[in-house]
Amino acid sequence: MKALMTGGAGFIGSHVVDKLRDKEIEVRVYDMIMPTYRKDIEYYQGSLLDLDALRMALDGIDVIFHLGAIADVKDVYEEPHYSEAINVRGTINVLEAARRSEAKKVIYASTTWVYSDCSGDIVDETTPLSPPSHLYTATKLASEYYCLAYSKLYDLGITILRYGIPYGPRARPGAVIPAFVTKALRGEPLTIAGEGSQFRQFIYVEDLAEGNVLALKSIAKNKIYNLDGKDKITIKQVAETVQKLVGGVKIESVPARPGDFSGKEISSELAKKELGWEPKVSFEEGLRRYIEWHKKEEEERESKWAQIDESLKS
Ligand SMILES: NC(=O)c1ccc[n+]([C@@H]2O[C@H](COP(=O)([O-])OP(=O)(O)OC[C@H]3O[C@@H](n4cnc5c(N)ncnc54)[C@H](O)[C@@H]3O)[C@@H](O)[C@H]2O)c1
Repeated sequence: MKALMTGGAGFIGSHVVDKLRDKEIEVRVYDMIMPTYRKDIEYYQGSLLDLDALRMALDGIDVIFHLGAIADVKDVYEEPHYSEAINVRGTINVLEAARRSEAKKVIYASTTWVYSDCSGDIVDETTPLSPPSHLYTATKLASEYYCLAYSKLYDLGITILRYGIPYGPRARPGAVIPAFVTKALRGEPLTIAGEGSQFRQFIYVEDLAEGNVLALKSIAKNKIYNLDGKDKITIKQVAETVQKLVGGVKIESVPARPGDFSGKEISSELAKKELGWEPKVSFEEGLRRYIEWHKKEEEERESKWAQIDESLKS
């Protein structure tokens, strides 16, 4: 079997590539930027907006993992028109290229943000969705609907995975956990809004990647699954765990922002029942692994600069 991974140079996609390779599944990354985390992966440079390039990249491919997107909600807010093109037109291009190829299946990376505007404290894949208030969510939902329509109209196998908030090595620096860790390692205080009682279900990125691989099971055809963390972790707990693991860091409270999303409990029971998927890495262990990775990255960067200084002396 051979998989095409759109967005395979990105944070989550790179970990899905690793898991697929662990299972000896061949992978071709399709991205605008070259993957730098490993050198042994076939790479096809192209944009999601280029249908012809996508079609050529699908030669010999059996399954497509579609993760390429403008994934940062702040970027979508700042560049709504461009983001809509990548996130929505990009998805229909992937589906259309798949329809006209030998590929049997598209696995689409969606988000648990689709539940943000729903009522109820606990939500699962059967929860009726409300129209989204964020553009990012609107683009992800539009893509979900395109996937469902392609599966019904053209019998293309699709699986929609709604990811929780991932964290771990290679995470974007702006996300809450990397931001806390960076501050802590610089000796700066960590600030939490109000009591810091808002919770999230963070998911360790390697667990999330494992869920993507399990979505290859035939039972997952034309299904939607939530892939989220088990535990509800408050922002205060995040700060306290960073404090415990880094040491010597102060936590300061600032006034709460009005309208902060208080959080909903996302059930991933269906993925457990049908795919046998469950997160394995505890929050503290995942955070410890992230901090180790982050420190190593910083050390390597500094050592490369030191080597350049040295070589310029002579
Ligand atoms: N990170 C999260 O918090 C999160 C949560 C839920 C769902 N998701 C979804 O998971 C997927 C992966 O997210 P991520 O965090 O790894 O993001 P990321 O930004 O690290 O990776 C996205 C990748 O898409 C590529 N890309 C962007 N525009 C492209 C284009 N025009 N053509 C080809 N490639 C293009 C980028 O180069 C990048 O490698 C996205 O679909 C995102 O919406 C992310």
